[in-house]
Amino acid sequence: MKTIIEPFRIKSVEPIRMTTRAERQRLLKAADYNLFSLASDDVLIDLLTDSGTSAMSARQWGAVMQGDESYAGSPSFTRFEKAVRNLMPFRFIIPTHQGRAAEAILFHLLGGKGRVIPSNTHFDTTRGNIEGSGAEAHDLVIEEGKDPANLHPFKGNMDLERLASFLAEHGDAVPCVMLTVTNNAGGGQPVSLENIRAVAALAKRFGKPFIIDGCRFAENAWFIKKREKGQEGRSIVEIVRDMFRDADGMTMSAKKDAFANIGGWLALNDPDLAEKARTRLIQTEGFPTYGGLAGRDLDAIAVGLEEIVDEDYLAYRIRTNEYIGERLIALGVPIVQPTGGHAVFIDARRWLAHVPPLAYPGHALAVALYEHGGIRSCEIGTVMFGRHPDGSESPAPMDLVRLAMPRRVYTQSHADYIVETFEEVAREKDSLAGFRIAWEPPMMRHFTAKFAPLSRGAKG
Ligand code: F0G
Repeated sequence: MKTIIEPFRIKSVEPIRMTTRAERQRLLKAADYNLFSLASDDVLIDLLTDSGTSAMSARQWGAVMQGDESYAGSPSFTRFEKAVRNLMPFRFIIPTHQGRAAEAILFHLLGGKGRVIPSNTHFDTTRGNIEGSGAEAHDLVIEEGKDPANLHPFKGNMDLERLASFLAEHGDAVPCVMLTVTNNAGGGQPVSLENIRAVAALAKRFGKPFIIDGCRFAENAWFIKKREKGQEGRSIVEIVRDMFRDADGMTMSAKKDAFANIGGWLALNDPDLAEKARTRLIQTEGFPTYGGLAGRDLDAIAVGLEEIVDEDYLAYRIRTNEYIGERLIALGVPIVQPTGGHAVFIDARRWLAHVPPLAYPGHALAVALYEHGGIRSCEIGTVMFGRHPDGSESPAPMDLVRLAMPRRVYTQSHADYIVETFEEVAREKDSLAGFRIAWEPPMMRHFTAKFAPLSRGAKG
């Protein structure tokens, strides 16, 4: 059959409240044109993030009822640990309340002034935790990964030559090598098994622990199966095990590829480092058999990890974004290609070429998608990255808009509706004038800044 259907039935639903364009124009104004300030009840299709927004299965909800809330030694922890270890064979698995908590513990131990940490592209919380410790975060993704139109199958790959010279140059200042799969900040692009192994070998040669940020490991494994020579006949579980086999540890947000609404973990092989991590965990998260989570959350994750490696699910998952991507390309909307695992990224700087970067074309597009279709997306561009610690402002490398797809939440007709909204925006896009920032906080301005619309012809 040609049609890839949603491989599930819907037993429980949440209504979407319909709104009109006029109502949304009023809501936008009241929110100072910041989509983070909208009430989610006023959003028709929420593509702000794929994190923590998954629909849990009936089996997961059943497991929630079996969660054991003992402070220490809960059987929920044992089930969680077994499910993680079935996929990622690490010695020590330390639960945390979400991914960034695992990062905070890791870089509390490995970061600090004078240290430098390479990755393909650090996600912003990873970067935040590294920089917060006084260390520096360096992105060494391959050149193809920075070109939205390049069709390289593994645009998340690490640039091995640059990594080798980075390790040679920085020596003892490098406490570990990181790799993010898939590469969220680079468009949800996968990393090949060959590249993972080569990064692991380089880290080993220089005597550095190799840590994978595994948030979207199952999507990455699916791309390996579909795109990497020799991998097509293998099961997702086998590929996942191979992805982590040569690593010394991982950080994980269970809010992504574990179908959970909260949770994460830090996994390590080094007993000494694990001991220090557990001590820090007790200070900041909780006892090592619950780590900032309820027992029921650990059970939801354990079942989610069994479900996420299902090939019918992954085929539907990846196809949804590919389908939206194909239809947008047909409309003439420039996107990051190939489409990523968890999201479609629109190249707003190219599509709204008449809006200068400092009038925030990505933000203008995100606001238009809400106004026209009630769709909430996220600007990843000059609003997010344009302001520097010294107070200056300059255009970010790209002005993208991310349509992040929650897992198992929306259906084919929602996807068609998203495309239809773009059709409508396309008709009026030349009249979009951009925005100026009327107020912003000193850091991370995209969450709380207030915007004012520019009129056509005004400068940013
Ligand atoms: N690493 C990656 C690659 C991520 O995408 C995220 C979160 C984290 C770490 C942090 O995990 O949210 O559980 O603390 N990404 C979300 C997003 C927020 O919308 O892309 P967390």
